[in-house]
Amino acid sequence: MEQQFEGAHAPSLNYGTLPGFAELKYERLIGDRIGLSSPYFRAHDGRPGSRTVIDGQEVINFSSYDYLGLNADDRLADVAKAAIDRYGVSATGSRHVAGEREIHRELERNLAAHYASEDCVVLVSGYATNLGVIGQLVGPKDILICDQVIHNSATMGGVLSGAARRSFAHNDLDDLERLLKANRGKFGRALIVVEGLYGMDGDVPDLKRLIELKKRYSAWLMVDEAHALGVIGATGAGSFEHCGVDPRDVDIWMGTLSKTLAGCGGYIATSAELVDYIKSLVSVFVYSVAMPPVIAAAANFALQTMHKEPERVTRLHSRARFFDERARAKRLLTVAREIPTAVSPIIIGDSIPAVALSHALLRRGVNVMPVLYPAVPAKAARLRFFLNATHGEDDIEKALDVTAEELTKMPELLKSLGVPGY
Ligand SMILES: Cc1ncc(COP(=O)(O)O)c(C=O)c1O
Repeated sequence: MEQQFEGAHAPSLNYGTLPGFAELKYERLIGDRIGLSSPYFRAHDGRPGSRTVIDGQEVINFSSYDYLGLNADDRLADVAKAAIDRYGVSATGSRHVAGEREIHRELERNLAAHYASEDCVVLVSGYATNLGVIGQLVGPKDILICDQVIHNSATMGGVLSGAARRSFAHNDLDDLERLLKANRGKFGRALIVVEGLYGMDGDVPDLKRLIELKKRYSAWLMVDEAHALGVIGATGAGSFEHCGVDPRDVDIWMGTLSKTLAGCGGYIATSAELVDYIKSLVSVFVYSVAMPPVIAAAANFALQTMHKEPERVTRLHSRARFFDERARAKRLLTVAREIPTAVSPIIIGDSIPAVALSHALLRRGVNVMPVLYPAVPAKAARLRFFLNATHGEDDIEKALDVTAEELTKMPELLKSLGVPGY
């Protein structure tokens, strides 16, 4: 017989009562009332690159992670088409069951060589890679220590693992050392997770000191290179090249194929033993379909192109420097960091003006997304410009001009919309 629940504590089956949903709906209602619809889920047509087509209008695009501009490259499309002809679209099952394709191993060998690691394994999602691998690397007797602004996928991996979780102030390795000193003795294994280039501020950790600390306190160090590959280091090799460290001193290199490599999926480059463990026992690999061979082929081509055409990386570096210089000249608020990088935020402050600006910029031919609280600290909402190697200096100049102009009009616009405080 179906059980009846009654009273104040009866669990509601109304989806609208799910955590955070009521607040989100309220924010949307306010947005609609003042004429500011959500800037997300814009439908693009064609192959987004430094340009994209939204609502039939070609705009300059700063919302793709395709840092080396390979997504719109005809050669990549040709490689992908040839892979479809050879392998079909789907991997048709997990690698255990449906078997692997030669292109899976070729991509893994090339990624392993990139990090001078013994082996590598690719998984169908970057997010699931962090979630599932961290989730099974540490357990209830262990400790996971992450930078405070680590990507959500690593945080959720920690939740899944049941390990004790601590975070240190962003890029503050004194704080990390304090945590290690206080906690290391109390736990079994320890895993430190950082990003090689942080996706919100575009800044870089001090890998040399991280390696010293992980050695001194006997911990594993995992570096998430999602935004670093193709972006930092003289040839775009990533954070180890930028920081001048031996990649073999980092225990676990994690990365995604969805950014510089113009594909989709995650990878772990590490020891042969850990790759064997992941392939044999980590659920997100074992119980999930293999990467579509077409994606493996495209990412493999992108990796080879990155190695063969270092001028793309040089151009990206020059665009990042140009962006920072011109933004400062126009008195726009950039983020203080060691070097300008392809992740180039302009800080706006409150969320509503950041959303309003994104809409205003789109009307003037520039597509850039806002990042709002709680993804970033309160009063640090921003427009996050992702630069790529195919942006021209004129694209950047135009985008910054329009941003500066629209920013000066903002108080008046917000007042006319009846936004409180303006
Ligand atoms: C630092 C970082 N790690 C992991 C991921 C997840 O990767 P994917 O989007 O390829 O699943 C992202 C996604 O943006 C990321 O920024």
